[in-house]
Amino acid sequence: MSKVYPVDPAFAAKARIRKADYEKLYAESVKDPEGFWGRIAERLEWAKKPTRIRDVSYDPQNLHIRWYDDGQLNVSANCLDRHLATRGDKTAIIFEGDDPSESRRISYRELHAEVCKFANTLKHLGVKKGDRVAIYMPMIPEAAVAMLACARIGAVHSVVFGGFSPDSLAGRIADSTAKMVITADEGVRGGKRIPLKANVDAALERPGTNSVETVVVVRRTGSAVPMQSPRDRYYHVLMEGQSAECPAEPVEAEHPLFILYTSGSTGKPKGVLHTSGGYLVYASLTHEWVFDVREDDVYWCTADVGWVTGHSYVVYGPLANGATTVMFDGVPNYPDFSRFWQVVDKHRVTLFYTAPTAIRALMREGEGPVKKCSRASLRLLGSVGEPINPEAWEWYHRVVGDERCPIVDTWWQTETGGILITPLAGAIDTKPGSATLPFFGIKPAVVDAGGAVLEGPAEGNLLITDSWPGQMRTVYGDHQRFIDTYFKAYPGSYFTGDGVRRDEDGYYWITGRVDDVINVSGHRIGTAEVESALVAHPKVAEAAVVGCPHEIKGQGIYAYVTLVAGEQGSEELRKELVAWVRKEIGPIATPDYIQWAPGLPKTRSGKIMRRILRKIGENQPDQLGDISTLADPAVVKNLVDERLIR
Ligand code: PRX
Repeated sequence: MSKVYPVDPAFAAKARIRKADYEKLYAESVKDPEGFWGRIAERLEWAKKPTRIRDVSYDPQNLHIRWYDDGQLNVSANCLDRHLATRGDKTAIIFEGDDPSESRRISYRELHAEVCKFANTLKHLGVKKGDRVAIYMPMIPEAAVAMLACARIGAVHSVVFGGFSPDSLAGRIADSTAKMVITADEGVRGGKRIPLKANVDAALERPGTNSVETVVVVRRTGSAVPMQSPRDRYYHVLMEGQSAECPAEPVEAEHPLFILYTSGSTGKPKGVLHTSGGYLVYASLTHEWVFDVREDDVYWCTADVGWVTGHSYVVYGPLANGATTVMFDGVPNYPDFSRFWQVVDKHRVTLFYTAPTAIRALMREGEGPVKKCSRASLRLLGSVGEPINPEAWEWYHRVVGDERCPIVDTWWQTETGGILITPLAGAIDTKPGSATLPFFGIKPAVVDAGGAVLEGPAEGNLLITDSWPGQMRTVYGDHQRFIDTYFKAYPGSYFTGDGVRRDEDGYYWITGRVDDVINVSGHRIGTAEVESALVAHPKVAEAAVVGCPHEIKGQGIYAYVTLVAGEQGSEELRKELVAWVRKEIGPIATPDYIQWAPGLPKTRSGKIMRRILRKIGENQPDQLGDISTLADPAVVKNLVDERLIR
């Protein structure tokens, strides 16, 4: 039996959603989704109110997902203009730089003016409704300005995490045929410089990227970077003299808002496409209700805008709700391990949302760095990105939250646009390690491998059996891949790719990915991507990559590498391959282990049996299961004998 933390009555007394509300509203939301989501849509300002609430078919032959599709709105107007009358002077963004001496506050009025000026700049540079714009930036307010300015004129942004390599950036630019890249001269993280503009220059030398006409460069560090005329333009120069008025262009609810690339089981990362109306309804509602946001809260989500969490819960959700959102351009351990809590105290943060990997890394440093800071302003803590182990949950609760702050462990995905399974702090008792119960309108199901729906306590694959407004609409440029990835395995449902256990109270416990995706520090990496990076190295003949347990990262990357004939595995070569993968994909894909494999376990038809490799990587050589179908069972013995985790 796991420990239960009951809802704090004092919290519940003031909460937006209480126990009785949850039960009643949840029942309503799944019984009458049209009525429920029709009402909820009124939280936004529509240029034309929708009358058709949903038009959804999960049938692979006729798959379509449309919400509010006769409505029109503008996302940036909802995040900015709408608040000017009542919240013009309220702080929209608190920026906290990598260097603790650097911070600034931007009011809704100021942000509105900046976004208008940049939207005018985009127009001046020929960006039109529907054009794709890549954003490759640090966590500075200009990143949010760029996103909102795109939304203002109906351009579609594609934010690429600043830690990705030139190759990864190039692939994303090519896939979306972006017309523009918005970047900064350099980023700064943990005191180190990141050569963003140089990476863009390198990316634009790769084939397939000549759709890019303009590179806009924000001055972050002020270092001199090569500027190619007429392609490269400085943001601050372009903004001079631009008008601070730019009417927001109403777009159809189903007009694309952004593309965000994420890794899957196979092939290149997919461009997850989200649209305007449904996405914003869902991001804003979940933000307000899950974090119990009030007018005077200071909300801080530590995610980077390069990930979906940064889209929904740093930028769009909070700004749509007129909240104050913190953008942090640093890391938890710089200048020291107290940094998060120093920032909490400095800006009086009330709601704090981070990833288990950060909690585990901080936990390792002990309570000292936390207890040095007061943290008295905090009233709620959140977790996202990967399963949180109960030990880390307990530490977060006891040490960070002083046993005073409820924890919301929120399960969701890039594809879902917003949180799907989560506690509501005023309504749902929590159990450390469980994301608890579905949010309104979300219908989870647990199925076995054959697709049979399991009732009651059960373990299997997690499906969502009906649509919600924040759901992705397609894979950019490849609708068939969308259908094949999510709707083929279990017809009639959305397949999440996650395993789950449902307990006797109906609580959901996410057990991790069941496909060939590794979750490293809350970031998704496809094993296929790391493998193709490895085999691109001239000394590598073949590679197979699996996830392995990792104390801080949750999962690490374990690579089995077969070298070309005549090459010998060595420490030097190992280092070379690690550096190679970092260069090809980015530091997040750094292999933790490389095992030299004279052969890989394959079926007689030549398919690599990853199940076996996973077990060896997990140090469970006695659980390999049936290996009789292998072409050469002898290779397994060698891999087991030479395994790197014991
Ligand atoms: O495996 C689940 C895990 O992260 C995956 C989604 O990754 P991504 O699209 O990058 O989005 C991360 C931020 C929403 C999921 O398939 N995951 C995310 N949140 C949790 C989680 N696993 C367990 N518990 C969570 N709270």
